[in-house]
Amino acid sequence: MKSQDIRKAYLQFFESKGHLIVPSAPIVLKDDPTLMFNNSGMAQFKEYFLGNGTPKSKRIADTQKCLRVSGKHNDLEDVGFDTYHHTMFEMLGNWSFGDYFKKEALDWAWEFLTEVLKLDKDRLYVSVFEGNPAENVAFDQEAWDIWKQYVPEDRIILGNKKDNFWEMGDQGPCGPCSEIHIDLRTDAERAAVSGRSLVNADHPQVVEIWNNVFMEFNRKADGSLERLPAQHVDTGMGFERLCMAMQNVTSNYDTDVFTPLIAKIEQITGLKYTSNEVKNISEEQNKTNIAIRVIVDHVRAVAFAIADGQLPSNTGAGYVIRRILRRAIRYGFTFLNTKEPFINKLVEVLANQMGEFFPEIKSQQQLVTNVIREEEASFLRTLDQGLQLLENVVAQTKGTEVSGAKAFELYDTFGFPRDLTALILKEKGMSFNESEFDASMQEQKNRSRAASEVSTEDWSVLIPGNVETFVGYDQTENEVKITRIRKVNSKKDGILYQIVLDNTPFYPEGGGQVGDKGTLVSANETIDIIDTKKENNLILHFAKQLPENINGAFVAKVNTDLRTSTSKNHSATHLMHLALRNILGTHVEQKGSLVNPNYLRFDFSHFAKVSDEELRQVEASVNAQIEAQLQLTEYRNIPIQEALAKGAMALFGEKYGDNVRMIEFGDSKELCGGIHVKNTAEIWHFKIVSEGAVAAGIRRIEAITGDAVKDFFTQQENALATIKETLKNPQDTIKAVVSLQDENSKLKKQIELLLKEKIEGLKNDLVSQFQEINGVNFLAKQVDLSMSSTKELAQALGTSKGNSFVVLASIEDNAPNIHCYIAKELVADKSLNANVVIKDLGKYIDGNGGGQPFFASGKGKNINGIKEALEKAIDFVK
Ligand code: SER
Repeated sequence: MKSQDIRKAYLQFFESKGHLIVPSAPIVLKDDPTLMFNNSGMAQFKEYFLGNGTPKSKRIADTQKCLRVSGKHNDLEDVGFDTYHHTMFEMLGNWSFGDYFKKEALDWAWEFLTEVLKLDKDRLYVSVFEGNPAENVAFDQEAWDIWKQYVPEDRIILGNKKDNFWEMGDQGPCGPCSEIHIDLRTDAERAAVSGRSLVNADHPQVVEIWNNVFMEFNRKADGSLERLPAQHVDTGMGFERLCMAMQNVTSNYDTDVFTPLIAKIEQITGLKYTSNEVKNISEEQNKTNIAIRVIVDHVRAVAFAIADGQLPSNTGAGYVIRRILRRAIRYGFTFLNTKEPFINKLVEVLANQMGEFFPEIKSQQQLVTNVIREEEASFLRTLDQGLQLLENVVAQTKGTEVSGAKAFELYDTFGFPRDLTALILKEKGMSFNESEFDASMQEQKNRSRAASEVSTEDWSVLIPGNVETFVGYDQTENEVKITRIRKVNSKKDGILYQIVLDNTPFYPEGGGQVGDKGTLVSANETIDIIDTKKENNLILHFAKQLPENINGAFVAKVNTDLRTSTSKNHSATHLMHLALRNILGTHVEQKGSLVNPNYLRFDFSHFAKVSDEELRQVEASVNAQIEAQLQLTEYRNIPIQEALAKGAMALFGEKYGDNVRMIEFGDSKELCGGIHVKNTAEIWHFKIVSEGAVAAGIRRIEAITGDAVKDFFTQQENALATIKETLKNPQDTIKAVVSLQDENSKLKKQIELLLKEKIEGLKNDLVSQFQEINGVNFLAKQVDLSMSSTKELAQALGTSKGNSFVVLASIEDNAPNIHCYIAKELVADKSLNANVVIKDLGKYIDGNGGGQPFFASGKGKNINGIKEALEKAIDFVK
């Protein structure tokens, strides 16, 4: 079966068992501070297990794009070396939210694998949780009994907490699990060694394919387990491994998920990849294979992350993506000898292969290609620089061992990989001090860990079971009660409290718009809310202190000044998005946005600089929409299909529900959860303040509205008034400035001429004042010139005679400067050195400087020292 068909078969099977099939959530998570990327199918459903929300259906199935490169589940360093781990992989999953439990989950898993896919039953092993008395979790008798109907006892394995108790992270929903493993070895191998002994033993052909988790517990911050309100099922099957089993191969990379990408690399590099069936390969071929696996794996992760809106950058999720891509580039550079960008060329293959099921990769193909190409080019330059630096380090090293701290510096500042450094040094018969490197690495890790340390306490729940309502679209004030509180201690912000209310007018940060600020007010106290954020389904209000009576009644009041300015910027962002698409073309798509009370920032795909003329048109178009006084039409809750049919713009990488909110101002229609003005006239005016590049093919515009524009115009007006005043209020200011410039350049020319004459005059004067000492033509004088003219004169005098030794000093801006010219023949014969002279004479003027052996300059602080410096110059000649 082709991989496409295997995916379809899975989804169809679970649809037939009453599951709703949903699309994969974006790979990059937006509103979950505990997780950077989707690392499992269940991540997008976490809130349902915890009871903070209701799923669309009690039975759901999908295939989820997952990335395991950070946090608790991190496979990055293994990728490429083995044949069955990946950064990005697809997880086929089916879920029960308080509906079916162990029996159906395991029955269906077995039915699908053995009856639909017809995998050989004899090759399957299953595992069951053995129990953990310390945590008071019992042996999973129920799962054992279910499996006993299907498999002989000797293929049921008991597993401990590490293998058979699944947890998403340090905190959160978890439970015992039952895994299904497959033995893909040959019959002879299977006869010789039992597969049972190889389960969970890192054997590349005896691998886990499906994990069935029975979510029953929540792991709390203090490490203890609490029972969840209901029992759920979370299953996850490794799609690429299933393809391996179904396609009769022994490596994920030999399935049609990867072979088209591998073929493309072979075509580009002229190298060959050998399948896992080819044994006894050379060391060289093994390295080629590893590099190719790294690249075909990593390009998927990077391409899908970019398509979902995560550009490579220097922080957070963007940095993880950049590092994955750099790992791929470096493997190509070192082992495939690729010195030009080429990974971007794989995107086309990927889009053709996966575009049908994941349309985002098809529609973002051009952008993804460009971004990767640009990243490649810039990292290849860095590698080049790194190589040069390494040469310098080698040149300065005595012996054969380079300092580990230096190697770490290369790694840390230039992204120059450790193993590449080792490899290059090895070729020179050298190495670096590994333990010094490790120590530097550890030091840096400690520093960054200390900076980002956060400890989160468990919630204390005041009013259980409440699902908070957001009333902020209609109100900025409302009566509220506190339902739960949590204390968070972070190195960055100190101690903060997160407060959840029964209902709230506070908008939580999202869709680019910052969270509301405001107050919680009761009869006798006022608590400042400094920020509002969303975590899964909860709206968290951040405060530096808690009210004394947390059970009391409060009025939650949003700071309406800030909110109003923010809403103007948000609505203007929509108007600008439309204007950009009308003026630059419909290839313009939002790639990021920030909307706060002060300004708006909008990143979008476009492949050239936006010209001044285009920017003026965009401004004019937005201002025309403002002047047209367009009334807001808000569709608060309409089916997504209806909104899209009306022409609403949706963003890639956003997770939309079946029902959405649509914001309409005239022709501008966007799916958006943010806060907007009621009429565009409220924005007053729109002004672009900057335009620039963020990444390859991504531009950024910053703009202001409302009062900020008023302030901007006032500043401009004041600046102009000051200019006029300075120019003594001319009739025509522009004319006055232009004539000032003209006059200025004429004067400059005159000065240049006069200066030349002056230098020439001085030169003629001084040429006759050389003294001959020991065969050297010596001259030391102070002149009345600028520093640069003094330099020029020193050189002119120096070259006017053979065997010359000239020292000139002058004063500029109240500071002494000194210069020394020594004829080349003297430098060679007498080992006189202008550098040494200047260093020495510099002492008298409190200064220093340097240059070359035949000419050097210095600057100092002490004018009074000039005389002595000039007197001492003669000593060098004597
Ligand atoms: N959450 C489990 C896993 O990721 C099953 O989906 O393995």
